[in-house]
Amino acid sequence: MSETPPTTTQTGTPVGSDAHSLTAGADGVAALHDRYLVEKLAQFNRERIPERIVHAKGGGAFGRFEVTEDVSRYTRAAVFQPGAVTETLSRFSSVAGEQGSPDTWRDVRGFSVKFYTTEGNYDIVGNNTPVFFIRDGIKFPDFIHSQKRLPGSGLRDADMQWDFWTLSPESAHQVTYLMGDRGLPRSWREMPGYGSHTYQWTNLDGERFWVKYHFRSNQGNAEMPGTEAELIAGADADHYRRDLYEAIERGDFPSWDLHVQVMPYDDAHGYRFNPFDLTKVWPHADYPLIKVGTLTLDRNPENFFAQIEQAAFSPANTVPGIDISPDKMLMARVFSYPDAQRYRVGTNYAELPVNAPHAAPVHSYTQDGAGRHGFKPASAPVYAPNSFGGPVASPAAAGAGSWESDGALVRSAATLHAEDDDFGQAGALYREVFDESQKARFLATISGAVGGVQDAGIRERAIQYWANVDATLGAQLRAVLDAGAEPAVAAVQPGLAE
Ligand code: HEM
Repeated sequence: MSETPPTTTQTGTPVGSDAHSLTAGADGVAALHDRYLVEKLAQFNRERIPERIVHAKGGGAFGRFEVTEDVSRYTRAAVFQPGAVTETLSRFSSVAGEQGSPDTWRDVRGFSVKFYTTEGNYDIVGNNTPVFFIRDGIKFPDFIHSQKRLPGSGLRDADMQWDFWTLSPESAHQVTYLMGDRGLPRSWREMPGYGSHTYQWTNLDGERFWVKYHFRSNQGNAEMPGTEAELIAGADADHYRRDLYEAIERGDFPSWDLHVQVMPYDDAHGYRFNPFDLTKVWPHADYPLIKVGTLTLDRNPENFFAQIEQAAFSPANTVPGIDISPDKMLMARVFSYPDAQRYRVGTNYAELPVNAPHAAPVHSYTQDGAGRHGFKPASAPVYAPNSFGGPVASPAAAGAGSWESDGALVRSAATLHAEDDDFGQAGALYREVFDESQKARFLATISGAVGGVQDAGIRERAIQYWANVDATLGAQLRAVLDAGAEPAVAAVQPGLAE
């Protein structure tokens, strides 16, 4: 007998053939009771799950986070205590493209990290930019609709992109990043990551701080010219995924140093702009970077579907000593991700090995639901409170954050801080961070993008949008579009400062 095990059905019964259906005679009709044929076809039809509604195309790897500094005066979170080493899972992604879309289409890139901490899983679900297009989650579905495809033709459309952006001027800062070199990283390894939002840290004494996360690539930041990105999009749609996988396979482990900006709790109220506004960065001169430790990716997934496609990252996954902030976007996200994952992966997605905690026990009263396989002894109580020794919630263990709010319920975009404008930081990024060659490429990129807008009114608004960012830039864009030509693109791609 061969040492190769026999093929079996999913319930372990050996099957008669890997290649031939059961038929009535060699050329006859197929038998419905060929249960292996039916199982193979039926299972195959169910191999795909819905792709992520955004960030569908991505890749990732496991790794570790090592705390090299002491930030214990800001947070009690075990994951950030001196010397702590925590297993991690990272996933990088594009936002708008579907599963098979080319990695090198211009886009913002997702930067997700799951820390399997001793206090439960902690996720930072951020991007390679420190800001975002909108500041209220109620606009997110509209924003994404405008960036994806037209319902009729199934095509992406410059008119609806620019219609949304120009009618949502808070997008200007992020669109400046997107149309700049940051929109085309050379690889996932050579880009930074940001938590983007403001989060809350609490130390053991109950003192609260506001923080922003910055992952700085130890590979450096590198970008690619648009012409090269277009060629790669055709030649190797999986360019970023391949680059990461191959680097880790050859032992060239990418790493990022994690820094935080820390704002004392009471600074928020009087700060010059709303520190919870996701369209703004905190200038480093106000709140300098403080190093925490290093994230290193050193293990490729063994199975892409089980460990990356089914991975469920969520801003709702916080741990004691780390919480969200009064950022309207963040509050919407805390609802949205677990909801998406219950639909996309299944009710019990958190039980899957990649999503379950690896270093903390689960003591939950949730039960049942499709696909549930874990269960407690029959004697364990299934409700709280109970008299039978079941787990009891503990505010001290939860270590939740808090903030004061005495406002009435309103739907408002009130600006309460002196610099709560839409265009100021976008202009500063363009004028003070971009060098001359970056500015030249930027003009070429927005000329091409706005040049694709057909509607004269939207095109005019787009020119005005860039004039609001910088008057000279607006005039240059108008001149290029009027001349019907695109300016030459400088070839050099230096890294970005931020
Ligand atoms: C209110 C605004 C937002 C909503 C409603 C939203 C919603 C979603 C949803 C539903 C998913 C798919 C989750 C899944 O199926 O697993 C997703 C993925 C993602 N989002 Fe958002 N999002 C928002 C804003 C943001 C922002 C501001 C960032 C970055 C700062 C961001 C970064 C990501 C990333 C990186 C992923 C992919 C996660 C992964 O790798 O699996 N999103 N988002």
